[in-house]
Amino acid sequence: MLADVEAQVSSPVLVGRSGQLAALDAALAAASDGRPSTIMIGGEAGVGKTRLISEFTENARRDNARVLVGGCLELGADGLPFAPFTSVLRELVRDLGAAGIAGLLPGGATRELARLLPEFGAPAGPGDAGEARARLFEQILLLLERLAEAGPVALVIEDTHWADASTRDLLAFLVRNQLSLERVLIVLTYRSDDLHRTHPLRPLLAELDRSGWVTRMELDRLTRWDTSQLVTQIIGREAGDDLLTDVYRRSEGNPLYVEALLDEGDPAQGKPLPESLRDLLVASARRLPDETQEVLRIASAGGERTGHGLLAAVSALDEAALARALRPAVAANVLLTDPDGYLFRHALIREAVHDELLPGERGQLHRRFAEAIGTDPALVLPGRAPAEQAYHWYAAHDLTRALVTAWQAAEQFGRSLAYAEQLAMLSRVLELWDGVPDAGQRIGADHVAVLEAAVQTAELTGEDDRGVLFAQAALREIDAAAEPVRAALLLEIRGRLKYHLGRTDFVDDLRAAVGLVPAEPPSPARSRVLESLAHRTLQVHRGWADVELRTVAEEAVLTARRCGDAATEAAALVTIACAEPISGNVERIRALLAQARSVAARAQAFQPTLNAAVTESDMLEGAGLHELAAGVAREGLVTAREHGLARTYGAALANNLAEPLVSLGRWDEAAEVLESAMKQLPARVGKTCIWRLAGDMALARGDLTTATESVAWIKSVLKGTRYQDQYHLPLVRLETGVLLAQDRPAEALSVVGAAVGHFGELPNSRYVWPVLVVGAQACAAAAAAGVRDGALAAQAAALLERLRAEAHGRTADERAQQAHRLTFAAEAETAPSEQPAASEQAAASEQAAAQARAWDEAAQAWEALGEPYPLALALRRSAEAALSAGDRDGATSKLRRSAALAQSLKANPLSDDIAQLIRRARISPDPDAGNQTKAEPQRLGLTAREFEVLRLVAAGRSNREIAAELFISAKTASVHVSNILGKLGVATRGEAAATAHRLRLFDPQQP
Ligand SMILES: Nc1ncnc2c1ncn2[C@@H]1O[C@H](COP(=O)(O)OP(=O)(O)OP(=O)(O)O)[C@@H](O)[C@H]1O
Ligand SMILES: [Mg+2]
Repeated sequence: MLADVEAQVSSPVLVGRSGQLAALDAALAAASDGRPSTIMIGGEAGVGKTRLISEFTENARRDNARVLVGGCLELGADGLPFAPFTSVLRELVRDLGAAGIAGLLPGGATRELARLLPEFGAPAGPGDAGEARARLFEQILLLLERLAEAGPVALVIEDTHWADASTRDLLAFLVRNQLSLERVLIVLTYRSDDLHRTHPLRPLLAELDRSGWVTRMELDRLTRWDTSQLVTQIIGREAGDDLLTDVYRRSEGNPLYVEALLDEGDPAQGKPLPESLRDLLVASARRLPDETQEVLRIASAGGERTGHGLLAAVSALDEAALARALRPAVAANVLLTDPDGYLFRHALIREAVHDELLPGERGQLHRRFAEAIGTDPALVLPGRAPAEQAYHWYAAHDLTRALVTAWQAAEQFGRSLAYAEQLAMLSRVLELWDGVPDAGQRIGADHVAVLEAAVQTAELTGEDDRGVLFAQAALREIDAAAEPVRAALLLEIRGRLKYHLGRTDFVDDLRAAVGLVPAEPPSPARSRVLESLAHRTLQVHRGWADVELRTVAEEAVLTARRCGDAATEAAALVTIACAEPISGNVERIRALLAQARSVAARAQAFQPTLNAAVTESDMLEGAGLHELAAGVAREGLVTAREHGLARTYGAALANNLAEPLVSLGRWDEAAEVLESAMKQLPARVGKTCIWRLAGDMALARGDLTTATESVAWIKSVLKGTRYQDQYHLPLVRLETGVLLAQDRPAEALSVVGAAVGHFGELPNSRYVWPVLVVGAQACAAAAAAGVRDGALAAQAAALLERLRAEAHGRTADERAQQAHRLTFAAEAETAPSEQPAASEQAAASEQAAAQARAWDEAAQAWEALGEPYPLALALRRSAEAALSAGDRDGATSKLRRSAALAQSLKANPLSDDIAQLIRRARISPDPDAGNQTKAEPQRLGLTAREFEVLRLVAAGRSNREIAAELFISAKTASVHVSNILGKLGVATRGEAAATAHRLRLFDPQQP
């Protein structure tokens, strides 16, 4: 009815901003081509963020993109959870119908969307709260994905500086997962001047900044030139210089300010320009007729936006009278209209109008709002009545009603999975409690019950510290003798929260909890506290640190079974499976996990189901059963997807799939899995596993840049976290490998040395063995380099002793660990010894033969495990030793096998190394080869052998070193060198080396 009223104060065209508009258009075009991104537009109030967006979305719609716009509202402290997403959904329902949206989702499942919009039917019942939220997020992601299949989508969320905590979480989720949202552009706007140091949006912006697909766009004020354009557009004629200068000086190029100045004053007519923007904005409201101002004052108490019906009810005007009263406000651009109501054009206007209410009047207005909503909840958006009432009663200082409605709102927020808001409401109930004499009776719950709800909600929002405090307060009020179970459950959750916080005293709480719940009759409470104690202690100590805990876990299973608590039974079975020693026990463990899975499925408890898959695949991988591990992880991924939890569990399972694939040498496949895992939502430590696996493969393939980056990223995440074998030791292995590849043995030594010094209390052999192996390699490399550096050699020898001692005291239960142990033995035996004198040739050859045997044993172990890369490495080392022992035939076949494996893995550094050894030993690389001499003419007349020798001369090696490398005598080496000098026509080794360098004979590409 009011839509036809045109405001006069705005420019009909967009001034300037062509660069920003083009950037937005380009980002949308890129998204259409499958390169999605997020743009965060920051700028001060009134600088033109919304205007830029509306210009952009108009273009986008014209180009057939689907545009979804949602705005965050400033609504007191109570927030409107998921507000922008609710409006986006509402818009979509208008467009496609609820059925149309259901049709886009697999199985038409919109049960979680129903928590945001009643159009989708009844929300899912209670159930695991964290899980429901994860599912809601995934459903929204999926919905966007599906919408984008029909064409590009621009999702715009405005004013995120007002975003409620739930909206922030969901936004973070979407942006983190954006790479799977092909064809979706996300645009966020925020007021940069509103972001004070502790503003909750700040950490989110910082996090998003770090992902590769998010860019920031800062909207600055208009230039003087653009400002003059804006003035011209607004007043409809060229402005005089004086006016321009004045407007520019006052507004400093802020368009909102420019508009307000031009609207208010006209220096040409002697009307002075007011000083502050706020004065200006209020002035525009003050000039309105009295009845209009009266309604504005009412609306200001309603919030930034108020529905028609609600405003009519509170103002006691019928809709026609209301429209009449508000028409001048809309004409003056003080209020804007949307299909459902009115909103202030600018929050500053609302604030200013609201601030000017008299104290009594303010309370009175809020009371009228609360009463109107209480009488007819349909006046506000569905599901919003409790929160709105809570807000108004609180503002009206009616303590009793404020308390009661806050309690109802908390319940409602819980149903909408808006835990931060729920916690805020519960805190309010607690705050008001003492001021309301019979509070408990009014809400039907005692003070402890409110505290209990607050503890649970705090855990869901991750506010563990606050949760501990709430639990403490509740425990102080409870008489444990009278209500032992209630006290026990509080102790249990407090223990869990302390555990999350890394506090070791969590065990005391959990033990006390178990002590309080009677074993008979069996109860879910009993099984839960038992499970919790067993589970958390297990997380800290591997295996049963204390045999008593095993009994605890078993009792948890039995109790849960007897009282029919399937979820706890499944969880306890997983816990027992995790604690079992793997050696010789794999089948039993698998049976336990299978049982856990079937119990969990019966209870529809997906968390234990997926936990079982994560645990089992990890255990199988650790035991060297790579194929089985990959199979279980793959199955788990399917289950996660079926239950709408692909992103929540996806990353962990993808990781557990990639790891065995890496072991099996299926590296390209593994890389794909890792890439998809990265697109999901890995927690930070989860990311380190992905980077580590990618780094391992990159290192083996000679991509040192990627490997080095991986090391740096992992370190940046692990810095300051609790030391854990499973994350820290694989990093040591990768970092040492990188340093060795970079020929920095001294640093490699110190990395290994530091790691050995920090091995956890009971370091896990699974992660220790690979470090021992790479440590022995580092020692060998340092010893070799130490020929010229005695101190380094001594350091290497000392470290090797330590590593040997570690190795001797350590069991190798699994086949995989045994393979590492054999590799370590072979490596440690080939540690440098003085080059034997001629008289000791026989002994040396015997030693070499022993080395070859040691490497053969390692090779067999890797072969049995199906791990081609360490197999190829072991074969290569065995061949080298065989050559020294004079077994050329054996060496030849090993080298060929090793070369073939390295080639199929595209492990180029190993391939090059093998090729070099083949040349040095003059072995033909494969049965069909043998045309080595063909290239002789390009080798300056040198034979292939002489060419090999020249390579070593150029590398600065002595005759003795050359002899050792080429498996020839020192004398033969010196003969080769003289021949080379003659053929090259140079007098010294140094000149020969210079010639080789000048001709770039030994560039890496050169054969
Ligand atoms: N480049 C422009 N050309 C013409 N008019 C503009 C331009 N930028 C802003 N305006 C006008 O200035 C006023 C304020 O702009 P807008 O509402 O877009 O600011 P905003 O940055 O979204 O502010 P807020 O932070 O308050 O949301 C609007 O009336 C808008 O039409
Ligand atoms: Mg705006």
